[in-house]
Amino acid sequence: MNYSKKNVRDVDVKGKKVLLRCDFNVPQDKATRAITDDRRIRAALPTIRYLLENGAAVIACSHLGKPKGEVKPELTLAPVAERLGELLGQEIIFAKDVVGPDAQAKAAALKAGELLLLENTRFEKGEEKNDPAFSRALADMAELFVSDAFGTVHRAHASTAGVAEYLPAVSGFLIEKELEIMGKALEAPARPFAAVLGGAKVSDKIPVIENLLDKADIIIIGGGMAYTFMKAMGYEVGSSLLEEDKIGFALDMLRRAREKGVKLLTPADNVVGSAFAPDCERKTVDTGCIPAGWMGMDIGPKTIAMYSEAIKGAGTVIWNGPMGVFEFDAFAEGTRAMARAMAESGAVTIVGGGDSAAAVEQLGFADKMTHISTGGGASLEFLEGKALPGVVCLLDK
Ligand code: 3PG
Repeated sequence: MNYSKKNVRDVDVKGKKVLLRCDFNVPQDKATRAITDDRRIRAALPTIRYLLENGAAVIACSHLGKPKGEVKPELTLAPVAERLGELLGQEIIFAKDVVGPDAQAKAAALKAGELLLLENTRFEKGEEKNDPAFSRALADMAELFVSDAFGTVHRAHASTAGVAEYLPAVSGFLIEKELEIMGKALEAPARPFAAVLGGAKVSDKIPVIENLLDKADIIIIGGGMAYTFMKAMGYEVGSSLLEEDKIGFALDMLRRAREKGVKLLTPADNVVGSAFAPDCERKTVDTGCIPAGWMGMDIGPKTIAMYSEAIKGAGTVIWNGPMGVFEFDAFAEGTRAMARAMAESGAVTIVGGGDSAAAVEQLGFADKMTHISTGGGASLEFLEGKALPGVVCLLDK
Protein backbone atom coordinates (compact mmCIF):
# COMPACT_ATOMS: atom_id res chain seq x y z
CA MET A 1 0.00 0.00 0.00
CA ASN A 2 1.20 3.53 -0.75
CA TYR A 3 1.42 5.39 2.57
CA SER A 4 2.76 8.57 1.01
CA LYS A 5 -0.34 10.70 1.04
CA LYS A 6 -0.83 14.44 0.88
CA ASN A 7 -1.25 16.04 4.26
CA VAL A 8 -3.17 19.07 5.43
CA ARG A 9 0.21 20.86 5.47
CA ASP A 10 0.52 20.36 1.69
CA VAL A 11 -2.62 22.34 0.79
CA ASP A 12 -3.92 25.83 1.35
CA VAL A 13 -6.68 25.81 3.97
CA LYS A 14 -7.03 29.55 4.51
CA GLY A 15 -10.60 30.74 4.06
CA LYS A 16 -11.76 27.21 3.15
CA LYS A 17 -14.63 25.18 4.54
CA VAL A 18 -13.03 21.90 5.54
CA LEU A 19 -14.90 18.66 6.18
CA LEU A 20 -12.85 16.85 8.83
CA ARG A 21 -13.55 13.16 9.51
CA CYS A 22 -12.49 12.22 13.03
CA ASP A 23 -12.92 8.99 14.96
CA PHE A 24 -14.86 10.16 17.98
CA ASN A 25 -16.16 6.65 18.60
CA VAL A 26 -15.34 6.85 22.30
CA PRO A 27 -16.34 4.54 25.15
CA GLN A 28 -19.20 5.85 27.29
CA ASP A 29 -20.76 4.93 30.59
CA LYS A 30 -23.89 2.94 29.73
CA ALA A 31 -26.13 4.71 32.23
CA THR A 32 -24.92 8.32 32.20
CA ARG A 33 -23.36 8.42 28.67
CA ALA A 34 -20.34 10.15 30.21
CA ILE A 35 -17.20 9.66 28.12
CA THR A 36 -14.97 7.20 29.97
CA ASP A 37 -11.88 7.57 27.75
CA ASP A 38 -11.30 10.71 25.68
CA ARG A 39 -7.99 9.67 24.05
CA ARG A 40 -9.52 9.67 20.57
CA ILE A 41 -10.80 13.23 21.03
CA ARG A 42 -7.41 14.40 22.29
CA ALA A 43 -5.69 12.64 19.38
CA ALA A 44 -7.67 14.79 16.92
CA LEU A 45 -6.68 18.11 18.52
CA PRO A 46 -3.43 18.80 16.59
CA THR A 47 -5.23 18.72 13.23
CA ILE A 48 -8.23 20.68 14.52
CA ARG A 49 -5.98 23.36 16.01
CA TYR A 50 -3.89 23.58 12.85
CA LEU A 51 -6.99 24.06 10.69
CA LEU A 52 -8.54 26.68 12.98
CA GLU A 53 -5.29 28.59 13.42
CA ASN A 54 -4.69 28.61 9.68
CA GLY A 55 -7.99 30.25 8.84
CA ALA A 56 -10.22 27.27 7.97
CA ALA A 57 -13.86 26.85 8.98
CA VAL A 58 -14.02 23.27 10.27
CA ILE A 59 -17.01 20.98 9.77
CA ALA A 60 -16.10 17.94 11.89
CA CYS A 61 -17.92 14.62 11.67
CA SER A 62 -17.70 11.13 13.15
CA HIS A 63 -19.67 8.00 13.86
CA LEU A 64 -20.43 6.79 17.38
CA GLY A 65 -21.46 3.19 18.06
CA LYS A 66 -23.63 1.22 15.71
CA PRO A 67 -27.02 2.94 15.28
CA LYS A 68 -27.36 1.29 11.84
CA GLY A 69 -28.95 4.16 9.96
CA GLU A 70 -31.47 5.05 12.69
CA VAL A 71 -31.50 8.11 14.92
CA LYS A 72 -30.68 6.69 18.37
CA PRO A 73 -30.73 9.57 20.89
CA GLU A 74 -28.39 7.69 23.26
CA LEU A 75 -25.74 7.72 20.51
CA THR A 76 -25.78 11.46 19.92
CA LEU A 77 -22.41 13.17 19.54
CA ALA A 78 -23.53 15.93 21.93
CA PRO A 79 -21.29 14.65 24.80
CA VAL A 80 -18.35 14.67 22.36
CA ALA A 81 -19.14 18.28 21.40
CA GLU A 82 -19.05 19.23 25.06
CA ARG A 83 -15.75 17.44 25.77
CA LEU A 84 -14.17 18.76 22.57
CA GLY A 85 -15.16 22.29 23.53
CA GLU A 86 -13.52 21.87 26.95
CA LEU A 87 -10.31 20.47 25.46
CA LEU A 88 -10.13 23.09 22.74
CA GLY A 89 -11.16 25.97 24.95
CA GLN A 90 -13.59 27.24 22.36
CA GLU A 91 -17.32 27.03 21.73
CA ILE A 92 -18.37 24.16 19.45
CA ILE A 93 -21.37 24.68 17.20
CA PHE A 94 -23.37 21.44 17.19
CA ALA A 95 -25.73 20.41 14.38
CA LYS A 96 -28.85 18.41 15.23
CA ASP A 97 -28.52 16.40 12.01
CA VAL A 98 -25.82 15.24 9.60
CA VAL A 99 -26.72 16.71 6.22
CA GLY A 100 -30.21 17.98 7.06
CA PRO A 101 -31.44 21.59 7.28
CA ASP A 102 -29.74 22.34 10.61
CA ALA A 103 -26.32 21.10 9.42
CA GLN A 104 -26.64 22.88 6.10
CA ALA A 105 -27.65 26.21 7.60
CA LYS A 106 -24.91 26.07 10.23
CA ALA A 107 -22.27 24.97 7.67
CA ALA A 108 -23.28 27.82 5.34
CA ALA A 109 -22.98 30.39 8.13
CA LEU A 110 -19.69 28.98 9.51
CA LYS A 111 -16.77 31.42 9.62
CA ALA A 112 -13.00 30.95 9.59
CA GLY A 113 -11.76 29.81 13.01
CA GLU A 114 -15.14 28.27 13.96
CA LEU A 115 -15.88 24.58 14.45
CA LEU A 116 -19.17 22.87 13.64
CA LEU A 117 -19.67 19.26 14.75
CA LEU A 118 -22.26 17.31 12.78
CA GLU A 119 -24.48 14.69 14.42
CA ASN A 120 -23.50 10.96 14.31
CA THR A 121 -22.86 10.04 10.65
CA ARG A 122 -24.31 6.55 11.25
CA PHE A 123 -27.73 8.08 11.93
CA GLU A 124 -27.84 8.21 8.10
CA LYS A 125 -28.53 5.00 6.17
CA GLY A 126 -26.17 6.13 3.41
CA GLU A 127 -23.10 6.16 5.67
CA GLU A 128 -22.27 2.46 5.95
CA LYS A 129 -23.61 1.77 2.43
CA ASN A 130 -21.14 4.32 1.10
CA ASP A 131 -24.07 5.87 -0.77
CA PRO A 132 -22.88 8.43 -3.36
CA ALA A 133 -25.86 10.72 -2.67
CA PHE A 134 -24.94 10.95 1.02
CA SER A 135 -21.23 11.42 0.20
CA ARG A 136 -22.22 14.20 -2.18
CA ALA A 137 -24.41 15.90 0.43
CA LEU A 138 -21.49 15.88 2.90
CA ALA A 139 -19.09 17.13 0.24
CA ASP A 140 -21.43 19.94 -0.83
CA MET A 141 -20.97 21.65 2.53
CA ALA A 142 -17.18 21.94 2.11
CA GLU A 143 -14.28 22.63 -0.26
CA LEU A 144 -11.68 20.25 1.13
CA PHE A 145 -11.82 16.86 2.87
CA VAL A 146 -9.36 16.09 5.64
CA SER A 147 -9.40 12.59 7.06
CA ASP A 148 -7.95 12.10 10.52
CA ALA A 149 -10.06 9.12 11.58
CA PHE A 150 -7.36 6.47 11.73
CA GLY A 151 -9.60 4.18 13.81
CA THR A 152 -12.07 4.00 10.94
CA VAL A 153 -9.81 3.89 7.85
CA HIS A 154 -10.57 0.17 7.38
CA ARG A 155 -14.23 1.05 6.67
CA ALA A 156 -15.27 2.02 3.14
CA HIS A 157 -18.06 4.31 4.29
CA ALA A 158 -19.38 7.58 2.84
CA SER A 159 -17.68 9.87 5.38
CA THR A 160 -14.41 7.88 5.45
CA ALA A 161 -13.88 7.19 1.75
CA GLY A 162 -16.88 8.00 -0.49
CA VAL A 163 -16.67 11.74 0.06
CA ALA A 164 -13.16 11.77 -1.47
CA GLU A 165 -14.82 11.25 -4.88
CA TYR A 166 -16.20 14.78 -4.65
CA LEU A 167 -13.55 16.78 -2.80
CA PRO A 168 -9.76 16.97 -2.80
CA ALA A 169 -8.80 14.68 0.08
CA VAL A 170 -5.75 14.82 2.36
CA SER A 171 -4.71 13.32 5.68
CA GLY A 172 -4.58 14.99 9.07
CA PHE A 173 -1.66 14.68 11.48
CA LEU A 174 -3.00 11.63 13.33
CA ILE A 175 -3.32 9.48 10.21
CA GLU A 176 0.06 10.72 9.04
CA LYS A 177 1.68 9.74 12.34
CA GLU A 178 0.00 6.32 12.53
CA LEU A 179 1.01 5.47 8.95
CA GLU A 180 4.54 6.72 9.39
CA ILE A 181 5.28 4.85 12.61
CA MET A 182 3.50 1.60 11.82
CA GLY A 183 4.50 1.70 8.13
CA LYS A 184 8.15 2.07 9.04
CA ALA A 185 7.90 -0.74 11.57
CA LEU A 186 6.59 -3.06 8.86
CA GLU A 187 8.78 -1.94 5.97
CA ALA A 188 12.11 -1.05 7.55
CA PRO A 189 12.08 -2.12 11.21
CA ALA A 190 15.04 -1.83 13.56
CA ARG A 191 15.88 -5.52 14.03
CA PRO A 192 15.33 -7.93 15.59
CA PHE A 193 11.66 -7.23 14.91
CA ALA A 194 9.38 -8.96 17.44
CA ALA A 195 5.60 -9.23 17.23
CA VAL A 196 3.71 -10.05 20.41
CA LEU A 197 0.34 -11.50 19.48
CA GLY A 198 -2.34 -12.37 21.98
CA GLY A 199 -6.08 -12.22 22.32
CA ALA A 200 -8.70 -14.90 22.50
CA LYS A 201 -8.96 -16.36 19.02
CA VAL A 202 -6.50 -17.63 16.44
CA SER A 203 -9.14 -17.03 13.76
CA ASP A 204 -8.96 -13.25 14.42
CA LYS A 205 -5.19 -13.25 13.98
CA ILE A 206 -4.68 -15.55 10.95
CA PRO A 207 -3.97 -12.83 8.36
CA VAL A 208 -1.73 -10.90 10.75
CA ILE A 209 0.36 -13.96 11.63
CA GLU A 210 0.67 -14.80 7.92
CA ASN A 211 1.77 -11.27 7.02
CA LEU A 212 4.22 -11.01 9.92
CA LEU A 213 5.86 -14.36 9.11
CA ASP A 214 7.41 -12.57 6.13
CA LYS A 215 8.53 -9.55 8.13
CA ALA A 216 9.24 -10.39 11.78
CA ASP A 217 12.22 -12.19 13.31
CA ILE A 218 10.34 -13.31 16.40
CA ILE A 219 6.63 -14.02 16.87
CA ILE A 220 5.48 -14.37 20.46
CA ILE A 221 2.16 -16.11 20.99
CA GLY A 222 0.00 -15.64 24.09
CA GLY A 223 -3.62 -15.28 25.15
CA GLY A 224 -6.41 -17.73 24.43
CA MET A 225 -5.08 -18.49 20.98
CA ALA A 226 -1.90 -20.05 22.42
CA TYR A 227 -3.86 -23.18 23.39
CA THR A 228 -4.68 -24.03 19.78
CA PHE A 229 -0.93 -23.86 19.07
CA MET A 230 -0.23 -26.10 22.08
CA LYS A 231 -2.79 -28.61 20.90
CA ALA A 232 -1.18 -28.56 17.45
CA MET A 233 2.14 -29.38 19.16
CA GLY A 234 0.49 -32.43 20.73
CA TYR A 235 -0.19 -31.10 24.25
CA GLU A 236 -3.40 -31.53 26.23
CA VAL A 237 -5.03 -28.18 27.07
CA GLY A 238 -7.81 -29.18 29.51
CA SER A 239 -10.82 -26.84 29.20
CA SER A 240 -8.77 -24.00 27.68
CA LEU A 241 -10.09 -22.08 24.72
CA LEU A 242 -9.49 -24.22 21.65
CA GLU A 243 -10.35 -23.76 18.00
CA GLU A 244 -10.27 -27.34 16.71
CA ASP A 245 -10.68 -26.18 13.12
CA LYS A 246 -7.57 -23.98 13.38
CA ILE A 247 -5.17 -26.69 14.60
CA GLY A 248 -4.11 -27.31 10.98
CA PHE A 249 -3.39 -23.60 10.52
CA ALA A 250 -1.33 -23.51 13.71
CA LEU A 251 0.71 -26.52 12.52
CA ASP A 252 1.27 -24.85 9.18
CA MET A 253 2.46 -21.64 10.89
CA LEU A 254 4.88 -23.59 13.12
CA ARG A 255 6.30 -25.32 10.03
CA ARG A 256 6.56 -22.12 7.97
CA ALA A 257 8.23 -20.27 10.85
CA ARG A 258 10.87 -23.05 11.05
CA GLU A 259 11.46 -22.88 7.28
CA LYS A 260 11.81 -19.10 7.31
CA GLY A 261 14.01 -19.01 10.39
CA VAL A 262 11.43 -17.00 12.36
CA LYS A 263 11.39 -17.79 16.09
CA LEU A 264 7.77 -18.60 16.92
CA LEU A 265 7.53 -18.74 20.69
CA THR A 266 4.69 -20.44 22.56
CA PRO A 267 4.15 -20.64 26.34
CA ALA A 268 6.30 -23.00 28.42
CA ASP A 269 3.96 -22.71 31.40
CA ASN A 270 0.53 -21.39 32.20
CA VAL A 271 -1.57 -19.98 35.01
CA VAL A 272 -4.72 -22.10 34.94
CA GLY A 273 -8.05 -21.54 36.64
CA SER A 274 -10.81 -23.87 37.81
CA ALA A 275 -13.48 -21.67 36.18
CA PHE A 276 -13.74 -18.48 34.13
CA ALA A 277 -14.12 -16.22 37.16
CA PRO A 278 -11.93 -13.60 38.86
CA ASP A 279 -11.83 -15.48 42.17
CA CYS A 280 -11.55 -19.05 40.88
CA GLU A 281 -8.96 -21.50 42.19
CA ARG A 282 -5.69 -21.17 40.28
CA LYS A 283 -2.32 -22.81 39.87
CA THR A 284 0.73 -22.71 37.61
CA VAL A 285 1.51 -25.72 35.46
CA ASP A 286 3.93 -26.50 32.64
CA THR A 287 2.60 -26.72 29.11
CA GLY A 288 1.40 -30.27 28.58
CA CYS A 289 0.31 -30.59 32.23
CA ILE A 290 -2.98 -28.67 32.19
CA PRO A 291 -5.35 -30.94 34.15
CA ALA A 292 -8.74 -31.92 32.71
CA GLY A 293 -11.37 -29.36 33.68
CA TRP A 294 -8.86 -26.50 34.18
CA MET A 295 -8.39 -23.67 31.72
CA GLY A 296 -5.36 -21.65 30.78
CA MET A 297 -5.95 -17.98 31.68
CA ASP A 298 -2.48 -16.43 31.61
CA ILE A 299 1.11 -17.21 30.70
CA GLY A 300 3.24 -18.51 33.59
CA PRO A 301 6.51 -17.19 35.12
CA LYS A 302 8.87 -19.29 32.92
CA THR A 303 7.07 -17.96 29.83
CA ILE A 304 7.20 -14.41 31.17
CA ALA A 305 10.99 -14.74 31.62
CA MET A 306 11.44 -16.22 28.12
CA TYR A 307 9.20 -13.64 26.39
CA SER A 308 10.69 -10.70 28.35
CA GLU A 309 14.18 -11.78 27.30
CA ALA A 310 13.11 -11.85 23.64
CA ILE A 311 11.49 -8.41 23.93
CA LYS A 312 14.48 -6.88 25.69
CA GLY A 313 16.79 -7.92 22.85
CA ALA A 314 14.51 -6.54 20.13
CA GLY A 315 14.92 -3.38 18.03
CA THR A 316 11.20 -3.09 17.26
CA VAL A 317 8.25 -4.59 19.13
CA ILE A 318 4.66 -4.54 17.92
CA TRP A 319 2.01 -5.76 20.32
CA ASN A 320 -1.55 -6.75 19.56
CA GLY A 321 -3.71 -8.65 22.04
CA PRO A 322 -3.37 -9.37 25.78
CA MET A 323 -1.50 -12.42 27.11
CA GLY A 324 -4.27 -13.56 29.41
CA VAL A 325 -7.59 -12.61 30.98
CA PHE A 326 -6.08 -9.32 32.15
CA GLU A 327 -9.42 -7.88 33.23
CA PHE A 328 -9.23 -10.36 36.17
CA ASP A 329 -6.37 -9.17 38.37
CA ALA A 330 -5.32 -12.75 39.21
CA PHE A 331 -4.59 -13.35 35.52
CA ALA A 332 -3.12 -9.96 34.53
CA GLU A 333 0.54 -10.64 35.34
CA GLY A 334 1.50 -11.94 31.87
CA THR A 335 0.05 -8.90 30.14
CA ARG A 336 1.56 -6.56 32.74
CA ALA A 337 4.98 -8.21 32.33
CA MET A 338 4.90 -7.82 28.53
CA ALA A 339 4.02 -4.12 28.93
CA ARG A 340 6.88 -3.76 31.43
CA ALA A 341 9.38 -5.58 29.19
CA MET A 342 8.40 -3.35 26.27
CA ALA A 343 8.63 -0.21 28.41
CA GLU A 344 12.15 -1.18 29.56
CA SER A 345 13.39 -2.50 26.22
CA GLY A 346 14.74 0.66 24.57
CA ALA A 347 13.17 -0.69 21.35
CA VAL A 348 10.69 1.09 19.12
CA THR A 349 7.48 -0.07 20.81
CA ILE A 350 4.10 0.02 19.12
CA VAL A 351 0.85 -1.03 20.73
CA GLY A 352 -2.08 -1.89 18.47
CA GLY A 353 -5.31 -0.32 19.64
CA GLY A 354 -8.28 -2.03 21.24
CA ASP A 355 -7.60 -4.37 24.17
CA SER A 356 -3.81 -4.04 24.18
CA ALA A 357 -4.01 -0.24 24.27
CA ALA A 358 -6.56 -0.46 27.09
CA ALA A 359 -4.28 -2.89 28.98
CA VAL A 360 -1.22 -0.65 28.63
CA GLU A 361 -3.25 2.36 29.74
CA GLN A 362 -4.86 0.52 32.65
CA LEU A 363 -1.53 -0.94 33.81
CA GLY A 364 0.17 2.48 33.73
CA PHE A 365 2.72 1.98 30.92
CA ALA A 366 1.12 4.23 28.28
CA ASP A 367 3.71 7.01 28.41
CA LYS A 368 6.58 4.51 28.12
CA MET A 369 5.62 3.33 24.62
CA THR A 370 6.80 4.84 21.33
CA HIS A 371 3.28 4.74 19.93
CA ILE A 372 -0.16 3.55 20.97
CA SER A 373 -2.43 3.29 17.97
CA THR A 374 -5.91 4.84 18.15
CA GLY A 375 -7.16 2.11 15.82
CA GLY A 376 -8.33 -1.33 17.00
CA GLY A 377 -9.62 -3.05 13.86
CA ALA A 378 -7.79 -0.51 11.70
CA SER A 379 -4.35 -1.19 13.20
CA LEU A 380 -4.94 -4.94 12.93
CA GLU A 381 -5.86 -4.63 9.24
CA PHE A 382 -2.80 -2.45 8.76
CA LEU A 383 -0.59 -5.15 10.30
CA GLU A 384 -2.31 -7.68 8.02
CA GLY A 385 -0.97 -5.67 5.08
CA LYS A 386 -4.46 -4.83 3.77
CA ALA A 387 -5.20 -1.75 1.69
CA LEU A 388 -7.22 0.59 3.90
CA PRO A 389 -10.05 2.36 2.00
CA GLY A 390 -9.83 5.51 4.12
CA VAL A 391 -6.15 5.87 3.17
CA VAL A 392 -6.33 4.68 -0.45
CA CYS A 393 -8.87 7.46 -1.20
CA LEU A 394 -6.46 10.28 -0.20
CA LEU A 395 -4.38 12.18 -2.75
CA ASP A 396 -0.91 10.78 -3.38
CA LYS A 397 2.09 13.01 -2.63
C1 3PG B 1 -13.35 1.40 16.24
O1 3PG B 1 -13.76 1.71 17.37
O2 3PG B 1 -12.60 0.42 16.04
C2 3PG B 1 -13.68 2.31 15.09
O3 3PG B 1 -14.26 3.49 15.51
C3 3PG B 1 -14.55 1.60 14.08
O4 3PG B 1 -15.80 1.28 14.64
P1 3PG B 1 -16.68 0.12 14.02
O5 3PG B 1 -15.99 -1.19 14.34
O6 3PG B 1 -18.04 0.25 14.63
O7 3PG B 1 -16.72 0.32 12.51
